[in-house]
Amino acid sequence: MPRRLLVLGSTGSIGTQALDVVSRTDDLEVVGLSAARSWEPLVQQAIENGVRRIALADADAAARAAEAWTDGEVLVGAQGLVQLVMESDADLVLNALVGSAGLGPTVTALGEGIDLALANKESLVVGGELVTQLAEATGARLLPVDSEHAALHHLLQGVPAGALERITITASGGPFRGRTRAQLADVTVEEALNHPTWAMGGKITIDSATLMNKGLEVMEAHHLFNIDYDRIGVVVHPQSIVHATVETADGAQLAHLGLPDMRIAIAYALHHPDIMSLPTRRLDLAQTGSLTFEEVDHEAFPCLDLCLQAARAGGTAPCVLNAANEVAVHAFLNGRLSFTGIADVIDATLQAMPGGPVHAFDSLFEADREAREIAAEQIGARA
Ligand SMILES: NC(=O)c1ccc[n+]([C@@H]2O[C@H](COP(=O)([O-])OP(=O)(O)OC[C@H]3O[C@@H](n4cnc5c(N)ncnc54)[C@H](OP(=O)(O)O)[C@@H]3O)[C@@H](O)[C@H]2O)c1
Repeated sequence: MPRRLLVLGSTGSIGTQALDVVSRTDDLEVVGLSAARSWEPLVQQAIENGVRRIALADADAAARAAEAWTDGEVLVGAQGLVQLVMESDADLVLNALVGSAGLGPTVTALGEGIDLALANKESLVVGGELVTQLAEATGARLLPVDSEHAALHHLLQGVPAGALERITITASGGPFRGRTRAQLADVTVEEALNHPTWAMGGKITIDSATLMNKGLEVMEAHHLFNIDYDRIGVVVHPQSIVHATVETADGAQLAHLGLPDMRIAIAYALHHPDIMSLPTRRLDLAQTGSLTFEEVDHEAFPCLDLCLQAARAGGTAPCVLNAANEVAVHAFLNGRLSFTGIADVIDATLQAMPGGPVHAFDSLFEADREAREIAAEQIGARA
């Protein structure tokens, strides 16, 4: 019997690649799909995959989908997404939403005891402790989709308990590697969206250019693998061939290599611990020639340190940082904020809202809302 899979955020970069992976296996059957507004591609995906239930966050988009597609049910809004997760009898949910909007479906899936393949790193950044506690309480598995974390997940299968010393995740350095902070002041949206090695959705591409993405990934790794921040390293590796390394107590390092292709990470999350055959381009080391590594330039890219600062402060601070980043990236993409203004807005929001204790998920939803307001004021003040 194929396992029943829900793909949330199926019209995005991860979502479409996940459907490509699923089309190459008999082991998974797609039973539900979701998007925010892209109703036409979503309906097309439903038809192609024989899916009878879809959810759209946007009410107008949902109404248009329901009018055009009468072969199934169209659910609406954040509640519709929750309903999709709760009522589809899924064995596995892939959360490929972008931003803190992914936290609700993460909580619902894990709360129902459903295994979760998690691309939405923001769920762990915002609600790491509560999310991992929930998974532990219900026995649901958290399966990382992010390439570095899927690599670590794979590598750690070969490390005996107690032998892990340190993990390192790599960063391509983004399109602005080598520039000073002053040289970043007037970069354009088009330049920032031009990632050197990965083709991804808009928000994560900007996060990669600021190195915010690496900071979010450090927090993600901390929660997924229960490892202190002092034992997580970041190194710039422009070729994006080595995704992560694991150092063991004897000083050896194990590395995960491959040409950049998210389908490898997605397929590993969907089939763990098995490995499926994929028609990906193969890495030829001799042809690759050399792999290079360098330190992060913390002065030019302050977002990484802001992440570490919020991570160490804990409580609602990572949630505040994430919300401020989402608002600032949106403003940058819309021409209302400079590239360097992204870090400034995050910094100012964290100073205005240093964070407090997290009693329940409601503390996080409230902190997220408040931080968005402060970040928007900060952006307005800079206009
Ligand atoms: N792309 C990558 O290679 C990559 C690699 C590693 C990790 N990730 C992580 O994976 C997640 C998804 O990234 P992505 O690049 O695939 O993003 P993306 O291309 O922007 O796609 C996001 C998906 O989520 C839907 N969506 C957006 N906002 C939503 C909301 N508020 N409520 C419900 N649905 C919403 C979108 O629907 P519409 O199409 O209607 O907008 C789309 O289906 C992110 O957390 C990212 O950090 C991505």
